[in-house]
Amino acid sequence: MASVALGKLSIHYSDAGRGPAVLLLHAFPLHREMWLPQVEALAGQYRVIALDARGLGQSRPAPESLTMELYADDAAAVLDHLGINKVVVAGLSMGGYAALAFAKRHRTRLGGLVLADTRATADSDEGRAGRLAFIDQAAKFGMDWVATEMLPKLQRQQPLPHVEAELRRLIRTNTVLGVAAAQRGMARRADATQDLSAIACPTLVMVGEEDRLTPPAMAQELATAIPNAKLITLSGAGHVANLEDPARFNVALLDFLQALKSTPLPP
Ligand code: MLT
Repeated sequence: MASVALGKLSIHYSDAGRGPAVLLLHAFPLHREMWLPQVEALAGQYRVIALDARGLGQSRPAPESLTMELYADDAAAVLDHLGINKVVVAGLSMGGYAALAFAKRHRTRLGGLVLADTRATADSDEGRAGRLAFIDQAAKFGMDWVATEMLPKLQRQQPLPHVEAELRRLIRTNTVLGVAAAQRGMARRADATQDLSAIACPTLVMVGEEDRLTPPAMAQELATAIPNAKLITLSGAGHVANLEDPARFNVALLDFLQALKSTPLPP
């Protein structure tokens, strides 16, 4: 694990393997280690970068608001630091919101896009109000409350004990300040729907069939709006499909990456 200083900010990331670069953007309220099964599966053939968004994991300090633009630009700064230009970006949920921001702001660097368990739409007024209430409750009751609140939403209907334990571990290493910043940033995120038709790189959309936060209908909307996107639905998985069904998630990811290798992209 390494870090890069951006002014007073330190962004922590892992950098494993060699080959074409793949950037992994994590979900809320987790951090880069949610991608451990994917880092392990990909690092034999790819250079896999996973970073902690500002305020989460070990990246400090937390901003007032972790906007998706900030998350995307920090990711681009890590790539600059590593001398990587072209990259395949994979984001799950909040990481998917940031991946869409990356696709808009750093279009020329994007060699492929993977959007897992995510959506392009902004929050409803009710959704935004829910995030503000969440921030208040988290401030009062702390990270145990955050874990109890989020665990059922993140998982399939019949949770897998090892996944639940891993999610709890990931959540509890975060802080109330970081979680609040991410909630504010997600509440403020723009609707990216109108940007989808301009995505020109190969795109894979994945979703757990039992995803309650961003259900399959949202994945279908994404896949329909992005030119030539491929949609894969993972039965028996919920929102954190990469942890609940790493075997099938990784096969889908590796197949997608392999196909990219055989269709070279313009520089
Ligand atoms: C996530 O899994 O990243 C978040 O729950 C997404 C959200 O709150 O919109």
